Amino acid sequence: MMQLSDSSLLKEALYSNGQWIRGEADNRLIVTNPATGERLATLPRAGQVETQQAIEAARLAQPVWAKTPVKERAKKIRRLFDLMLENQDDLAKILTSEQGKTLAEAKGEIAYGASYFEWFSEEAKRIYGDTIPAPDNNKRIVVIKQPIGVVAAITPWNFPNAMLARKIAPALAAGCSIVCKPANLTPLSALALAELVDRVGFPAGLVNVLVGDTQAIGNELTSNPAIRKLTFTGSTEVGKQLISQCAATVKRSTMELGGNAPFIVFDDADVSAAVAGAIQSKFRNAGQTCVCTNRILVQKSIYPEFMARFSEAVKGLEVGNGLDPRVSVGPLVSAGAAADVRRLITDACADGASCEVGGTDSDLGDCFLHPTVLTNVSKDMRILKEEIFGPVVPVLTFEDEQDAIALANATEFGLASYLYTRDIGRVWRVSEALEFGMVGINEGIISNEAAPFGGIKSSGNGREGSKYGLDDYLEIKYLCMGGLSE
Ligand code: SIN
Repeated sequence: MMQLSDSSLLKEALYSNGQWIRGEADNRLIVTNPATGERLATLPRAGQVETQQAIEAARLAQPVWAKTPVKERAKKIRRLFDLMLENQDDLAKILTSEQGKTLAEAKGEIAYGASYFEWFSEEAKRIYGDTIPAPDNNKRIVVIKQPIGVVAAITPWNFPNAMLARKIAPALAAGCSIVCKPANLTPLSALALAELVDRVGFPAGLVNVLVGDTQAIGNELTSNPAIRKLTFTGSTEVGKQLISQCAATVKRSTMELGGNAPFIVFDDADVSAAVAGAIQSKFRNAGQTCVCTNRILVQKSIYPEFMARFSEAVKGLEVGNGLDPRVSVGPLVSAGAAADVRRLITDACADGASCEVGGTDSDLGDCFLHPTVLTNVSKDMRILKEEIFGPVVPVLTFEDEQDAIALANATEFGLASYLYTRDIGRVWRVSEALEFGMVGINEGIISNEAAPFGGIKSSGNGREGSKYGLDDYLEIKYLCMGGLSE
C-alpha cells in the first residue's frame, strides 16, 4: 500500500460542486499500479447525469468567481502553487504509483504543474484591454477582455498532474469555472489536486473532477450549451472527433495533440550535448510525451561518432519500478500501450530495420520495454509516421541542411522539434523552415510555464502557458462609445 504523509490526498471519490461523491460500492473504476499490478483505489463512475450536475454547478460558480476582486483571485490561485509544493512528495508518490514514471520525474512534474498556478496567479492581474483610435471624432473604441465562461478540460494519463494544472490555472485566472475529465487510467493525481482545490476554499462548483464513462462524459461536455470552451490534450484521432462534436454548439476548442518530433544533429554540433539532449528528450516519461523525440536525424559525417556514444548511453538506462531510485525508465502506463509499441518495433524489423540496442522483451512484466534504438529505417515505415509513445527511437542520416529540413517536415504533425548545431546562421535558417510550433535549439527539454506550448498541423491549435496562455480562456468585447462630438 502507498505510504503517504497525508493519506487524505488519496481519494476514492469524485469532486463536484464542492462535494466528494463516494458513489455505490459496485461497478467501480479500479486504478492499478502499472509496475506491480497492485490495486491502488476504486472510484465511482460518473456518467451523463453526474456531468450535467457538475456543469450546472460550474455555471453557477463562474459569475461569482469572475466578480471576486482579482487580487483575491490571484491569491487563491497562488495558494494552490504553495499547497502543491508543500505536498510535493505525496503527490509525486501518487503519480508514480498510478502512472509509472520515476519518482524524480514525478516530483519534477508536480513542480512543473505548480509553476502554472504561480505563473497564472500573476498573469490574472494583467488581463489588459485596449483603446483604438476611431475612424471618426464622434466615437471612441474600447476593448475589454472577459472570461469565456464554463470550460471543459479533458486530460491525458502521461502527465496526470501537469496537464490538468496547465488548464485549471489559466481558466481560474481568466475568471472561468471548469469541469475536468482526467484519464481513467490515472485519476488519483487529479483528485489529489481537487483535494488541494477544496482546501483553498474556492466557490463550490468552480473546479469539478469526474472520471467514469468516458463516452458519456465526453458527449455531455462537448454538447452541453453551458460549456463555452473545450481544452483537450491527447491523441490527434480523439482530438478530431472532439472538435467535430463541439461544432454543433460552436464551442471554442483548443487542442494539444500528437507529435512526431525530429531531433536533428548537424556535423558541427557538440556531440556530447546532442547525446545528452537526445536521451532526455527521448526517454523522459519512458518516451510517453507528445514532445518526445520520435526520430533522430544525424548528418552522415558524424553518424558513426553519434551512434557509438548514443547507443552506449541508451544501454546505461536502468528499467524498472519508478519508485526505485536507481531506475531511469519506468513501465509504460499499461500492457496495451506496451503491446502497441512492441508492434511498431516488430513491424519495422519485419520490413528491414535493425535493432542496434534493445528490441527484446523485458522479464519485468508486460508493461516494461527495453530502451530500443533502430537503424536501417525507411521513409514508408509506420515507425516514422506515427507517434511512438514509448522508449524506442529510429535513427536516420541526412546529407545537408535542405535534406534535414525536408525529412523533418515530412510528417502530418507539427508540435516539437529539436536541432543541434553551433552555427548561428543555421540556427535561424533551420528554425524558420521547421513546420513545428516549438523548436529546441541545443536543448532537449523545452517545456516550462513561461513559454507558449502548442503545435500546428495535426498537432493542434492554441497555446498553453506564457502570456499567450490566457487568450484561449477570454472573449474580446468591443465597446463603441458614440455621440461624443459637441
Ligand atoms: C505532453 O506530452 O502532452 C506534454 C509534455 C510537456 O508538457 O512537456
